[in-house]
Amino acid sequence: MASSEFAGFYKLTPKERLRFVGEYAHLDKAELELLEASSALKIETANRMIENVVGVMPVPLGIAMNFLINGKDRLIPMAIEEPSVVAGASHAAKMARSKGGFHTSSTRPVMIGQIQVVGCANPDEAKESVLASTEEILRKANEQDPILVSKGGGALALEAKIIDSIVGPMVIAELLVDCGDAMGANAVNTMVEAVAPIIERLTGGRVYLRILSNLADRRLARASVTVAKEAVGGAEVVDGIINAYAFAAADPYRCATHNKGVMNGITAVVLATGNDTRAIEAGAHAYAARSGKYSPLTSWKKDANGDLVGEIELPMAVGLVGGATAVHPIAKVAVKILGVKSARELAETIAAVGLCQNLAALRALAAEGIQRGHMRLHARNVAATAGATGDLIDRIAEKMVEERKIRIDRAKELLAEHSRSA
Ligand code: MEV
Repeated sequence: MASSEFAGFYKLTPKERLRFVGEYAHLDKAELELLEASSALKIETANRMIENVVGVMPVPLGIAMNFLINGKDRLIPMAIEEPSVVAGASHAAKMARSKGGFHTSSTRPVMIGQIQVVGCANPDEAKESVLASTEEILRKANEQDPILVSKGGGALALEAKIIDSIVGPMVIAELLVDCGDAMGANAVNTMVEAVAPIIERLTGGRVYLRILSNLADRRLARASVTVAKEAVGGAEVVDGIINAYAFAAADPYRCATHNKGVMNGITAVVLATGNDTRAIEAGAHAYAARSGKYSPLTSWKKDANGDLVGEIELPMAVGLVGGATAVHPIAKVAVKILGVKSARELAETIAAVGLCQNLAALRALAAEGIQRGHMRLHARNVAATAGATGDLIDRIAEKMVEERKIRIDRAKELLAEHSRSA
């Protein structure tokens, strides 16, 4: 096989790169056309977003229905390859309407930028001298982004801590930056790089890393919901959901899956809006482990009425300006569909979707099990692949689910039977 090493690959045009990749990986004409196909995300735009572009990788974009958030109806665009997620969110959002839908809140959109200082002769003194120069450091940080400052954001505060590490103590200076409607990675990283020389001078140490933290625990989004017991399927299902939550709270093996279900909803909206899915995932799981024990991102209990009450709180570093959100044509449409006007509104909406997605999963798990919904969708795909169209897709799918025989040969038989009787 040819080497994948290719100096200056980035200098090629997307077409040239695609030709190279096509020859390298023996792609056929159809495969090349798939990569090159002009979609809503034009290859020229993609080429400005990341490096070494050869194509785009489309993911289905679905709309979750029925969301009522802070009294406002919202359509939720979700980009995801997994079946049942959009349907699950829509279904659970409908249940959530029984007692007025979701209620949300959030903190100021404050991100943390870290500056790592090693080799300080006296870490305590180094920390104190950094803190004593807070004003100078904040001024320097804010000079980097006058626009953010003019909009009410910017560097707000400086903190410092000493940590022990395998190579000895380190002083970590932390800049707290209100990022406004931006995710903030660029703003924060520019600021920490700009103030690092001051910190080096003040501490007499050596600065290495200057980077934002994805554990954005000063930028939290919260959502809560009360669901009438009748809407979830009765008192027994409510108890099942509370038991499912208790299981996750007690066992990290279950907890990872519980939180994965939460992130099904969250990541899909984050992706649809062109935000950084990895930043959100990293922040969510680190936040889930903040007590030292990996814990559920949501909690569920019963109120005096026996109705189900759920809550979620997690870091939500998403933006509306800058990044892919401002460039990607589909992301722009997704933001328009959501109808959010600020990064905080977006963050809160996403938190509500995460809570709702968790409700969908726990309800299904506590009641009929997760496979029924999956199987119905799978059966529809099999029926369509066998050649069924229109109403016939659902009729054949239903029959296969009933018989527990979801197979292409059975779908073809049912289709043939239908043609004979028609
Ligand atoms: C599947 O993508 C997500 C679930 O496993 C979540 C859960 O178990 O809570 C259904």
